[in-house]
Amino acid sequence: MEVVIVPDAAAGGELIATAIADLLTRKPDALLGVATGSTPLPIYQALAARVAAGSCDASRARICQLDEYVGLPKGHPESYRSVVLREVVEPLGLTADSFMGPDGSAGDIAAACDDYDRALAAAGGVDLQLLGIGSDGHIGFNEPCSSLASRTRIKTLTQRTREDNARFFDSLDEVPHHVITQGIGTILEARHLVLLATGEGKADAVALTVEGPVSSVVPASALQLHRHATVVVDEAAASRLKLADYFRATYAAKPGWQSL
Ligand code: F6R
Repeated sequence: MEVVIVPDAAAGGELIATAIADLLTRKPDALLGVATGSTPLPIYQALAARVAAGSCDASRARICQLDEYVGLPKGHPESYRSVVLREVVEPLGLTADSFMGPDGSAGDIAAACDDYDRALAAAGGVDLQLLGIGSDGHIGFNEPCSSLASRTRIKTLTQRTREDNARFFDSLDEVPHHVITQGIGTILEARHLVLLATGEGKADAVALTVEGPVSSVVPASALQLHRHATVVVDEAAASRLKLADYFRATYAAKPGWQSL
């Protein structure tokens, strides 16, 4: 696992946008897995700015969703499908044809989950999966004690996650209890995992993820099992890392030919 400590969220966004732009140069039709929430927005903004400036060609990129609320009406502005179309697909100049996600309004949710895992595999697998992290250590919506082998399935949000996400809704009551999320086993199949964490509120979860034992109690610690996982953190989110100086020195001395 590589840990990169950046000064702030904007620097994290630029760094990860560079990794995505490099990927799109190597593989123009790369399948990019995207997370929602507040943290990845600087990445999407940095990438969209490069596309607008003509320095990155994302015209053949494919985008896939990490998770989705269950039970919101189709087209609800806070469904993750709507959020990804608004924050990622449209700003990159893509259309809904380049995008895939699980159907949170399906009549048969279990079948929709299986269909999504099959669709990801049929698309050739995810090349780069962006991740945020919950204050309780979740990735996607794999809440604590999710199986490290789990596949895409329905999960119940913790009260803490519902409270964290209430800011996107008019009231806590409107935050769904259920979600579809790629499982941890599904996420680990992506070729490159890139987790961005910013702010002091993520510092404990980051320390447990990077320096704690691999444990389903901290789902993000599963990144330790991946051969190409990058954790990008700002100073505040890095503030409880015991090895912060080592991570800084390692990144400063990184060979120029190695990208993220
Ligand atoms: C959402 C997702 C979640 C968020 C996490 C952090 O697609 O994957 O794991 O990344 O809840 O959310 P923010 O970034 O809003 O703190």
